Amino acid sequence: MKTQVAIVGGGPAGLMLSHLLHLRGVESVVLEARSREELESEIRAGVLEQNTADLLTETGVGERMKKEGSVHHGVELRFGGRGHRIDFDDLVGRAITVYGQHEVVKDLIKARLDAGGEILFEAEGVEVRDIDSENPSVTFRKDGENHELSCDFIAGCDGFHGVCRKSIPDGAITNYERAYPFGWFGILVEGPPSTRELIYNLHERGFALVSTRSPEIQRLYFQCDPNDDTENWPDERIWAEMHTRLDIADEWTLEEGRIIQKSIVRMRSFVCEPMQFGRLFLAGDAAHIVPPTGAKGMNLAISDIRCLTEALAEFYESGKKDLLESYSEVRLKRVWAVSRFSWWMTSMLHRFEGDDAFRHRMQIAELGYVVESRAASTTLAENYTGLKEGESG
Ligand code: DHB
Repeated sequence: MKTQVAIVGGGPAGLMLSHLLHLRGVESVVLEARSREELESEIRAGVLEQNTADLLTETGVGERMKKEGSVHHGVELRFGGRGHRIDFDDLVGRAITVYGQHEVVKDLIKARLDAGGEILFEAEGVEVRDIDSENPSVTFRKDGENHELSCDFIAGCDGFHGVCRKSIPDGAITNYERAYPFGWFGILVEGPPSTRELIYNLHERGFALVSTRSPEIQRLYFQCDPNDDTENWPDERIWAEMHTRLDIADEWTLEEGRIIQKSIVRMRSFVCEPMQFGRLFLAGDAAHIVPPTGAKGMNLAISDIRCLTEALAEFYESGKKDLLESYSEVRLKRVWAVSRFSWWMTSMLHRFEGDDAFRHRMQIAELGYVVESRAASTTLAENYTGLKEGESG
């Protein structure tokens, strides 16, 4: 088997890379450990930056998002018993689209398969070989048989636990990491939404987030112990906690409904430097993780892919390697900018172990400044809707 770019991982990063390369006339094969059904049903975040939504539309995979996604022109920050709206339209003239990550994955899989693209699902035991040579390859097992895929380049889009980053020799890579001492308890709820726009809420008992998925499904989160178990949280306990954190004097009510899914995610910041070694290029969670506050994970991955596509297309069109050589340097500037934003949102909105009343007052003061100062609101709005490509990397 032979291709130009072997893509390890069929999440949004790998699929988008395959899609964009195809549009530039470059061949690829995507190898994915999971089945198509598993990939298409994995519940993740659901906020697309303006840049991401525009790219889906411009490259012909935005049709369903346009119909089923919901465009939000602002977000609410709630603290000290009151809500405050950050108006994206007014501050930066940009918006976000709420549309589940797994819906993006479905649309990309369909587009690739319709265009005759090759996605090998349930490819097991993937190993990358000879990454520091001009003839790298990927070996794997599928349907009980061993295979080897020769290629010019390998894109490591296989997530934080994938094999690609781990294949780079020790000493050639430096990891930067921060684990947060809390997690997010996430629930999917059947029933009408409690809010038109997302609510990020700080309470003395911890963070809570009210999001949506569709007119029939709500997505809610609250800060929890990362070692807690969903079994410890019967529905009544969840609703009581959400009410305690979110209820305010205004007319707003938290709409309860049937809880159809519960999960706990751990939170970390992680960046590896550099994001390339020889002919292996890392993108998305394989190279960096952000905590979920602000929903940047997939957006940052797609932004990596935009850059990697340019670099690979330039190589195939003109033989030049300049963009390939500068890939990591260019990306890391943006990766750190987005890591800072996600870390800042997380720090401002969560309760940390050992926090006292002083620290809580500081958080309230910071949020007060963010909502009252136009300069500070603009900072949040431009990062939340997505720094323009080329700004900060
Ligand atoms: C969602 C997830 C996030 O991490 C966030 O900041 C906002 C919304 C969501 O899943 O809807």
